[in-house]
This record gives sequence, structure tokens and C-alpha cells, in this order.
Amino acid sequence: MKYRILVTGGSRGIGRAVVEELGTRPEYQVIAPTRDELDLLDDRSIEAYVEKLEPVDALVNTAGINILGKLHELDSDSINAMLNTNLVAPLKLIRGVAPGMKTRGGGRIVTFSSIWGMRSKEYRTLYSMTKFGVNGMTRALARELGPSGILLNCVAPGYVLTEMTAKNVPPDEQKRLCAEIPLRRMAQPSEIAKTVAFLLSADNTYITGQTIVIDGGFLA
Ligand SMILES: NC(=O)c1ccc[n+]([C@@H]2O[C@H](COP(=O)([O-])OP(=O)(O)OC[C@H]3O[C@@H](n4cnc5c(N)ncnc54)[C@H](OP(=O)(O)O)[C@@H]3O)[C@@H](O)[C@H]2O)c1
Repeated sequence: MKYRILVTGGSRGIGRAVVEELGTRPEYQVIAPTRDELDLLDDRSIEAYVEKLEPVDALVNTAGINILGKLHELDSDSINAMLNTNLVAPLKLIRGVAPGMKTRGGGRIVTFSSIWGMRSKEYRTLYSMTKFGVNGMTRALARELGPSGILLNCVAPGYVLTEMTAKNVPPDEQKRLCAEIPLRRMAQPSEIAKTVAFLLSADNTYITGQTIVIDGGFLA
């Protein structure tokens, strides 16, 4: 029986690297819906997707967005989009897959946080709200679902070379930031994917309720 893993955000960036990393293991079946199949901003889409989904052993909530803005610029559309995509949708997916995991004897769930879910920075109010939120959600659910053999963790990357970073961090600032990172460079998506793969694997027998920071030492 294959180990079935549902991955959101698999179309590009870190999520695509996660899909590629997991795809190297023949014992895994990776399910990576497109936005047409599962739109995290659309409640009905989430409900319909979860209803027809066969039980999975693992879930990776990678999909996320980052709308930067000063306080007076944070309109209802931005607030709703950020909360729903980054925080509420992961919760609904966990709620949807947990019963199936229990029937299969347990499971592994990884949700994407960020260094901005550990500390914060100007104009990242919404992003930090959602990323601090996923850390808290993960801790509470790790306690609730631990007795059922479901292990939940977050990964909190620092700067990773993806479209999101290219959009939000201009090239000059990227150079300046690298000087502040002890390892003097941003991460490749594959470096994040390897940690996710470990947390999902049978080798992870005792890590749950944690947020694992992968930032080249930035927060240190
Ligand atoms: N990049 C970084 O430096 C960094 C650092 C810390 C944390 N993170 C976190 O890591 C995760 C991945 O980031 P990334 O840089 O790889 O992002 P990205 O390159 O911008 O990709 C975002 C992914 O999320 C999907 N997505 C967004 N809204 C969606 C929706 N409504 N329904 C379904 N899918 C949706 C996108 O699908 P489409 O292709 O359909 O748009 C895409 O696959 C995010 O949670 C992010 O917050 C990133």
C-alpha cells in the first residue's frame, strides 16, 4: 500500500520542490491538486475536494500568499484573502483529512510558517498574523491528535529563492539581506523540501507540535 501524501501549493516555488523531493521515493503517492481542483480561497472548493478525497497518510500545507501593506492599506479583501489562504484553509484541510488518517493508524502533517511567524517586520502584519497563527494551531492540534498517532509540525523558512521572494524583496535588498544571513545566501527550495520530507517520513517518530526554523541562521 502506497503512503499517500496531499500537497498544496505544488505548482511552483517551495511546494514544487516538495513534490519533486517526495516524488523520488517510490513508496509514496503524491497528490498535488492544481488551483482549479482545489482553490483555497473558495470554501465550496475545499469542501468538495475533501469530500471526494480518499484517505491520506500525510498532508503538507504549503500554499500561501503574502500581501504586504501599511496598517491603513489593509482592506477587508486583503485581510480575508490572507487569513483564508494561509490559516483557515490549512485548518479546514487538516479537519478534512484527520478522520482518514485515524483509520490508517496515524499520520503526519506539515504546515508552512515563516521566520515572520517567529518575529516580525514592518508591513508584514497580515503575514505574521497568519504565520504566528499556524504555529499556535499546530501546537493545539498536536496535543489533540497525538493520541491518534498524528504528528503535526510547522516549518519556518527564512529567505528562499522563489517568485514570492522575487516579488517582495528587490534585488538590492536581497544582496543586503544575504550579508545578514550567517550562511551568506538565501535557501534553495530543495533545502526546505528535504526537512519537510523528513518530518513526513516514518523516521520522524517523536517530533510533534514544533516549528522548525530553516533560515541559514538568520534568527540566531
Ligand atoms: N519564499 C520564501 O522565502 C518563504 C519564506 C518563508 C515562508 N514561506 C512560505 O512557504 C510557502 C510557499 O511559498 P513560495 O515562496 O513557494 O510561494 P509561491 O512561489 O508564491 O507559490 C505559492 C503557491 O501557493 C499556491 N496558492 C496560492 N493561493 C492559492 C489558492 N487560493 N488556492 C490554491 N493554491 C494557492 C500557488 O498556486 P498557483 O500557482 O495556482 O498560484 C503556488 O503553488 C508559503 O506558505 C510561504 O508563506 C516562503
